[in-house]
Amino acid sequence: MPIPNERPGRPARIGLPRRFHILTFGCQMNAYDSGRLGDLLRFEGWAEAAALEDADFIFLNTCSIREKAEKRVIARLRSILPLKKGKPSLVVGVGGCVAEQEGRALLGLFPQLDIVAGPRRISEIPSLLRPNSDRQFPVVLSGDAQEGGPGDVPGLPPVPPRVLRQTGPTAFLTIMEGCDNHCAYCVVPRLRGPERSRDPADVLREAAGLVARGAVEITLLGQNVNSYRPRGSDGMGPGIPFVRLIKAMASALDVRRLRFTTSHPRDFPPELTRLFAEESVLAPHVHLPLQSGSDRTLWAMGRGYSYKEYLAVLKGLREANEGIAVSTDIIVGFPGESEEDFDLTLKAMEEIRFDSAFCFRYSDRPGTRAQAMPWKVPEADKASRLQRLIALQKEIGAGINRGLLGTVQEVLVEGRGREPGQLSGRTGGNKIVNFQGPDRYLGDFASVRILRTGPVSLLGGLPGGREGA
Ligand code: SAH
Ligand code: SF4
Ligand code: F3S
Repeated sequence: MPIPNERPGRPARIGLPRRFHILTFGCQMNAYDSGRLGDLLRFEGWAEAAALEDADFIFLNTCSIREKAEKRVIARLRSILPLKKGKPSLVVGVGGCVAEQEGRALLGLFPQLDIVAGPRRISEIPSLLRPNSDRQFPVVLSGDAQEGGPGDVPGLPPVPPRVLRQTGPTAFLTIMEGCDNHCAYCVVPRLRGPERSRDPADVLREAAGLVARGAVEITLLGQNVNSYRPRGSDGMGPGIPFVRLIKAMASALDVRRLRFTTSHPRDFPPELTRLFAEESVLAPHVHLPLQSGSDRTLWAMGRGYSYKEYLAVLKGLREANEGIAVSTDIIVGFPGESEEDFDLTLKAMEEIRFDSAFCFRYSDRPGTRAQAMPWKVPEADKASRLQRLIALQKEIGAGINRGLLGTVQEVLVEGRGREPGQLSGRTGGNKIVNFQGPDRYLGDFASVRILRTGPVSLLGGLPGGREGA
């Protein structure tokens, strides 16, 4: 059978809209970027393909935070590129942090690849795919867009509401991009660039649009969200720009829950802490990465706070809201971390009692300061420390969750659970609750009594209803 239209980017089936499929890896900021890229493509007449095989454009939005994340992306790409054999018009692109990190080198590995676009260049993709575009593939876009260009300010360019994706009850909203911290282990500042914050009016407009399309909860995103500082904010009167933004959102929007992530402990002034007492719309949960309980390791990591300083922030938060849930990130096996340093991390976990913790083995990343450090910790030691840390957190998480037995929690129902008839959502403290309930609760709040608990999730029931399966 003749192939109707072989030029890359042209639909394989004439008369139908071209279809895209986006695979997202990594953090919520990538999830947000993928959603916005979809909006931009719909604006240009594209439709979304449910299956990879039906797509005319496949885009992998990737993460390179740890070696394992990058390997996953490479393996996935290896399985996707053969699709081009049966469909020469198929365009395959890699975006996000692996694209920025590897750049042109990805083409050496995968010569069939059409587009490589770093996170600051994603908004340029739709124009490359226009039928009249004269750009020859492959195209590699990395670094910053031109000053004043579409990628100059974070957030992708606005599109008319008619093409915007449906939002569920929960939505992400990136308010700042990049990172000015230089934690010794981290690739983010190099891959995402320096901090750039969006204009507050722009953020409010987008948030109002999300609420109008059904968002009940909005999570404000940034690699370092609490250092939000838009251009010209110094002349905008007193107060911390991030605090002002949250207050403005709380008063101007009909939103039921606000969250933000990820915040850096160093940028947590009392004005921000107090918001957890003052603004009921702010969910009682904060994700505050500790990384290590040892000052020696924190210093080597370049985190910019001591364990004591971290505790002081936490104390303020718990004073503002006694029941606030706190989650964290911990790295084990940072170069030079001794058993004594690691013991201090275990002690910190016992002292603080996090609701949940994402625990990672240190991974050597290209171009970071830590990569060049001596005293690398052997893999076997990292593995053993990780195991001990996870076991301890499981015990602590289970204990905290047991304390919720019999309480009634306001659960925002995000979807169905695994069991038939089961719904699933999250409490203000970000705990997953599964319970049996009617579909009318989908996308809405339900008051759920907690009947059983585990280290990670909770099982509940509607008052007077049956227990979840
Ligand atoms: N901006 C956020 C999160 C960045 S990435 C912050 O500062 O907290 C999410 C987490 O990945 C980090 O908090 C850290 O715990 C982990 N991480 C980052 N680089 C890593 C590396 N090279 N090896 C292991 N874990 C890493
Ligand atoms: Fe990476 Fe540190 Fe910036 Fe977080 S604060 S993105 S860990 S450099
Ligand atoms: Fe990964 Fe880049 Fe996010 S490295 S964690 S996708 S900022």
